[in-house]
Amino acid sequence: MRVLTKIFAIGTMAFALAGAACKGGAPGDPRAEAKERYDSACGKCHGRDGRGGVPSAEGLAPPRNFADATFQASRTDAQLRDAVVNGKGQMPPFGKLFDEPQLTEIVAHIRSFNPKK
Ligand code: HEC
Repeated sequence: MRVLTKIFAIGTMAFALAGAACKGGAPGDPRAEAKERYDSACGKCHGRDGRGGVPSAEGLAPPRNFADATFQASRTDAQLRDAVVNGKGQMPPFGKLFDEPQLTEIVAHIRSFNPKK
């Protein structure tokens, strides 16, 4: 009986810990992690709010405005992913920085800026 109580206590603790790790915003949450990655790697050019920025030099394409519904409608997920992996114009490639699941989450994060969503 004693042993059973102990096992039960350990089980309850493990459950509580797992629950804490799954809470929104906590480390281990893929959506929150994607936002953090975006903010640090992409935000300086595209803005943390996704609204784009100024071109790095006159005559060059500005970083895309992800809050523009027309832009969002003009690209497939595969095209967004491709731009992140291989870079585009003035944008450096990020293919080595993210693995497959992370790329999927980054694309989902770009989509979350779409005002028509
Ligand atoms: C050094 C500034 C810079 C950084 C950092 C940057 N980008 Fe960009 N990004 C640009 C520019 C400039 C363009 C426009 C490229 C063009 O069309 O010539 C662009 C375009 C894009 C596009 C659209 C491509 C298309 O189809 O037109 C996506 C998607 C994108 N960036 C995602 C990201 C993500 C995600 C990150 C972070 C992992 C990131 N960018 C980091 C400058 C940047």
